[in-house]
Amino acid sequence: MARTPRTFSAWAGAVILLILMIGIGLLVRREPAVSQPIAFNHLKHTQELGLDCVFCHTYVETGAHPGLPDADTCSLCHRAPLGESEEAAKLSQLIADGEPLRFNKLFRLPDHVFYTHRRHVGIAELDCTICHGEISETEIPPERPLVEISMSFCLDCHLEQEETVDCNACHR
Ligand code: HEC
Ligand code: HEC
Ligand code: HEC
Ligand code: HEC
Ligand code: HEC
Repeated sequence: MARTPRTFSAWAGAVILLILMIGIGLLVRREPAVSQPIAFNHLKHTQELGLDCVFCHTYVETGAHPGLPDADTCSLCHRAPLGESEEAAKLSQLIADGEPLRFNKLFRLPDHVFYTHRRHVGIAELDCTICHGEISETEIPPERPLVEISMSFCLDCHLEQEETVDCNACHR
């Protein structure tokens, strides 16, 4: 089979286009990694110690935003050093120094989207794992959301459960 210059350049063009598309795709889709001040361990606190989600995410049943815990919540147990881990020691030191502890948000929606936990967790009693995956089994904070929450992710369930698909319900 003779390879004419024309088919070759078409082939090369296709390869270059593919590489460009993957490159742009990675640049656009790849969300920046989220880092946290303390390597919190969900598995230990929720599965082993049996703490309820609402213990640290106070408004998960009543508000739009569940909230993330601050040093006051952790200091209920970590005021005095607990266990052998370096991270726990770092936490107790931070509490002793009276420094603020601010965790960074991992899951987030653009500002033009309205979403409330009160309706989904407080009223519809949906399981956290539907939208957050197995975060309660993580031993270190995830750097990226475990579930990609897109518009179609929301719409699929709303269609299935005959909930609203009115643009203005979610975009206010
Ligand atoms: C109800 C008590 C309690 C609360 C509240 C609590 N912890 Fe803990 N935490 C523990 C216990 C018990 C351990 C296990 C200590 C050990 O290693 O034996 C622990 C362990 C840890 C460790 C070490 C984890 C590891 O991988 O070994 C870190 C880090 C930690 N906690 C961070 C936090 C942070 C941050 C908060 C607040 C958001 C918090 N804890 C709230 C009781 C608590
Ligand atoms: C002792 C406190 C504590 C308890 C109990 C706890 N969490 Fe968390 N949670 C945290 C901390 C600290 C972070 C931020 C660091 C991280 O991601 O590990 C966090 C982050 C999260 C996030 C990511 C939030 C964001 O910024 O988008 C989700 C989702 C979450 N937790 C779900 C749960 C669920 C589900 C449960 C119950 C099964 C639970 N958590 C119980 C302390 C807690
Ligand atoms: C139907 C989907 C859905 C369910 C179910 C759900 N969440 Fe969320 N959660 C989200 C979305 C979307 C965000 C990001 C919201 C934003 O950016 O305003 C979020 C954000 C969070 C945050 C970040 C902190 C904050 O104040 O924004 C925490 C913590 C959290 N959820 C915990 C939970 C816990 C715990 C449960 C179960 C009791 C749960 N969520 C159930 C969709 C869900
Ligand atoms: C797994 C199913 C499920 C998913 C996923 C889901 N929802 Fe819902 N949503 C519901 C249910 C069920 C209700 C009705 C709750 C009630 O009875 O108050 C609801 C209600 C709502 C309402 C209130 C509508 C009204 O009548 O005013 C809004 C807004 C909303 N959802 C936005 C979202 C957004 C934004 C997302 C994605 C981030 C999302 N939902 C994902 C099941 C879901
Ligand atoms: C159940 C909730 C829900 C409904 C209903 C909904 N949207 Fe969205 N929409 C979202 C979410 C969540 C995002 C953000 C997606 C992301 O961050 O990737 C979004 C994003 C968008 C965007 C930004 C582009 C994009 O894809 O991210 C546009 C434009 C948009 N929606 C238009 C609409 C229109 C028009 C309607 C009505 C036909 C509608 N939406 C109905 C939840 C909804």
